[in-house]
Amino acid sequence: MQKVTEEIYSRIDNDIYNLEGERWWQPDFSLNLLRTLYNPVRVNYANKIFEHLKINPEEKSALEVGCGGGILTEEIAKMGFNTTGIDPSEQSLNIAIKHAKDNNLKIKYEMGTGENLPFQNNSFDVVFCCDVLEHVRDLPKVISEISRVLKNGGIFIYDTFNRTFISKITAIKILQEWKRWAIMPPNLHVWEMFIKPDEIRALLQENQLNCKDHRGIKQNISYPKMLHYLHKRAIGELTYEDFSKKFRMVECRSTQIMYMGYAVKRK
Ligand SMILES: C[S@@+](CC[C@H](N)C(=O)[O-])C[C@H]1O[C@@H](n2cnc3c(N)ncnc32)[C@H](O)[C@@H]1O
Repeated sequence: MQKVTEEIYSRIDNDIYNLEGERWWQPDFSLNLLRTLYNPVRVNYANKIFEHLKINPEEKSALEVGCGGGILTEEIAKMGFNTTGIDPSEQSLNIAIKHAKDNNLKIKYEMGTGENLPFQNNSFDVVFCCDVLEHVRDLPKVISEISRVLKNGGIFIYDTFNRTFISKITAIKILQEWKRWAIMPPNLHVWEMFIKPDEIRALLQENQLNCKDHRGIKQNISYPKMLHYLHKRAIGELTYEDFSKKFRMVECRSTQIMYMGYAVKRK
């Protein structure tokens, strides 16, 4: 798989992460849905992997690539890992640093991109990259960097969007473009940057990483119900916080829209 063209990359709005104040952590804000809706399913998935592989976080180091305001990073630190977060957005990092301090969490935050990780080879036992791979300029470089900083036998955990017809309708048209339902910023995601499971599997394989699993993520209510709540949020009848309480995101077999997975670095 190649990196995306400059034309495609120019369409994604990664500036929306340059947020001031406490934005990431405010319950009535779109990106806080990562905390309310996505953290439970991805943290549960990661914990199952650690249990299966008999990994004790207390003795290990973890890096989150594309940590934003620290919404997932803090959960990683709470698992017991010696935790580092990296992100290109200085404003997001400032929010993450303040929030960790206010909550007495020891997390190292650094500025940088996934394409050029400022860490030595074989530095981390686990690397997380969640809801980030579909935002980067050079995906093959990011995967090769993640593999480089992982220790041999280390674990890479990720989630991202699949590039299918149904993901175009749901993640792009409904969530971003069609006003009746759109609750996310218009260029949050660009469909051409979504990644098919086979594409990521091949990239991992090329970079000394054995892909072990892919699991889908979906809402636990029907599509009509989902559209009903989206509309209520779009017209302001529900806050983002109210909206997040109407359903949960859960693991499923179908990887057609969103999926998570993990890989192990070859020894
Ligand atoms: C949707 S947010 C995900 C934040 C966090 N991983 C989470 O799930 O809570 C995407 C993040 O990716 C970051 N990002 C964008 N391009 C990146 C790159 N090339 N390398 C690393 N992070 C990047 C953005 O600054 C933003 O914080």
